[in-house]
Order: sequence, then C-alpha cells, then structure tokens
Amino acid sequence: MALYEDLAGRTALIAGGATLIGRELARAFVDQGCRVVIADIDCAGGKQAVCELGEGVMFVETDVTSDTAIDACLAAARERFTGIDFLVNVTTSYLDDGPATSRENWLRALDIGLVGAAVLAHKLADELSARKGVIVNFSSVSAHRAQAGRFVYPAIKAAMAQLTRSQALEFAPRGVRVNAVAPGWTWSNVLSALSGNDRAKVDAVGGPFHMPGRIAEAAEIAGAVLFLCSGASSFVVGTEIRVDGGYLAMGPERGEVPIATLMEH
Ligand SMILES: NC(=O)c1ccc[n+]([C@@H]2O[C@H](COP(=O)([O-])OP(=O)(O)OC[C@H]3O[C@@H](n4cnc5c(N)ncnc54)[C@H](O)[C@@H]3O)[C@@H](O)[C@H]2O)c1
Repeated sequence: MALYEDLAGRTALIAGGATLIGRELARAFVDQGCRVVIADIDCAGGKQAVCELGEGVMFVETDVTSDTAIDACLAAARERFTGIDFLVNVTTSYLDDGPATSRENWLRALDIGLVGAAVLAHKLADELSARKGVIVNFSSVSAHRAQAGRFVYPAIKAAMAQLTRSQALEFAPRGVRVNAVAPGWTWSNVLSALSGNDRAKVDAVGGPFHMPGRIAEAAEIAGAVLFLCSGASSFVVGTEIRVDGGYLAMGPERGEVPIATLMEH
C-alpha cells in the first residue's frame, strides 16, 4: 500500500539492513516503490533480503568501520541505482560488559554504532543535498534510561541522539533533514535468539514495559522511518520520534495504583 506517494522511485541506503528490523524496513521502502541498498557485514542475511524482496533491492557486503568498504558500497550503489536519497543507520553492536567493558570493545562498539553512521552521512552529504534527501538514525529508549549492567549501548544510543541534533543543524541549510527513531523493545534477531524464538516469552518479559503490554513489530518502527523520509514530515527536524509503546512516558508505577495499596487497612 503506497502511504507516501513522494517516496516512489527514490533510493534508500540501509546500513545494518540485513537483520530482521533492517529487512522489514527494506520491505516497507519497497512497498512504497523505493529501491533499497542494504549495506551490512552479514552476507547470509543480506542475500536473504534480496531473495525475499526482489530486483529493487541490492546487497553490498560492507563493514561500516572501514572507509574503503563504505566507498566501494557507495560506488556500487550509484552504478546500479544512480543516487541515494535516504540514509538510514540501523547498524549496532551489543558489545557491552557494563563497567568492565574493555577499551577495545568500547572503541569497536562506537565505531559500529556511531562513527560508521557519521562517516556515511559525511560521504553522502553532497548527494543527499542535491536530491533533497533525508537521514534517519536509530536511537533507542536505552539512550534515555539507566539499564542494569549496560554502559556501552545506552551511551552510544545517547550519542546517536546527539549526533542527530548536530547533523540536523549542519545539514538543514543544505536541504537535508536529519531525525532519529527511538524504538522500545522490538521483535528482532537479537530477541529471537535470546528467547529461543519464543515471541510469547518476549512479550511476557518485555510487554509490561510498554503501555500496550507487548513489544513492537519491526514494521511498526519502519512506519515511523517512512514518515520521516516522506514530505509528510517536512518540518520535522533534529528530533527523535519515540516508537516505544509509551516506554519512556511511563514511570516506575507503570499501570499500578500504589496509593490504593496505602489505603488498605
Ligand atoms: N531490538 C530491539 O529491541 C531494539 C530496541 C531499540 C533500538 N533498537 C535499534 O534497532 C537497530 C537494530 O537492532 P537489532 O536488535 O535488530 O540489532 P542487530 O544486531 O540484529 O542488527 C544490527 C545489524 O548491524 C550489522 N552490523 C554489525 N556490525 C556491522 C559493521 N561493522 N558493518 C556493517 N553492518 C554491521 C549486523 O550484521 C546486523 O545486521 C539498532 O540500531 C538498535 O540499536 C533495537
């Protein structure tokens, strides 16, 4: 179903697009008539996405921590699809040993989850400007809350939210809008692997942190990304759209009424 007619015929580059969330995002772009370039180190996932989604999707094996690999990816994308209109940065690592995280892992996680996105944006700046393009970065609810045992991931997601504001200011005069999405728990490769592919178990554990009592579908995150790429969001700049089922709006009391407990005698 074409939600946004202005997306048709344009090209999105999804860094980290080979994972479940990235693939659903690619599917959502294809449904709007877009072409998609998936840049990822996961060859199996990338090839699966191309198989599922067809001709309009290309996979380029790309390590976003390598400038040479990024240059080769952009060259291949331009050759096949002429130019890039949308850059979506999904890439992340879950390297995180809390306070015990080694320097090597801190730097590696930063390179994958933040620096790669910044370098991609810089290398695409002229092209995005010429094509009135859009950048969408992936932040997270984790950017805004302390989470037990986690130091690296929340810090990088918070940095991504700030990078989004800085890029928005830099690129807006050149006609490029930059925003982020901040998902709550979302059905994904990582949650599937952790739970033994048990969606009901993940909803039981993660659901109570979200007002609808369940976690998100990847397609629900994709809906917000499409909105941010479309002209329907033409004055939305430098912000994070929370796609978190109310996770960040809820306080520790959640749906309970503790005052009622106090009044029980
Ligand atoms: N899963 C969730 O519940 C959740 C919640 C909030 C935000 N998010 C965000 O959504 C996005 C996707 O999360 P996910 O859980 O699907 O993660 P994931 O680990 O499944 O996906 C990350 C992708 O990045 C790719 N990647 C890793 N290193 C790379 C590199 N050096 N070069 C290129 N690609 C590389 C991986 O191959 C993978 O395809 C992330 O930005 C994450 O922070 C996820």
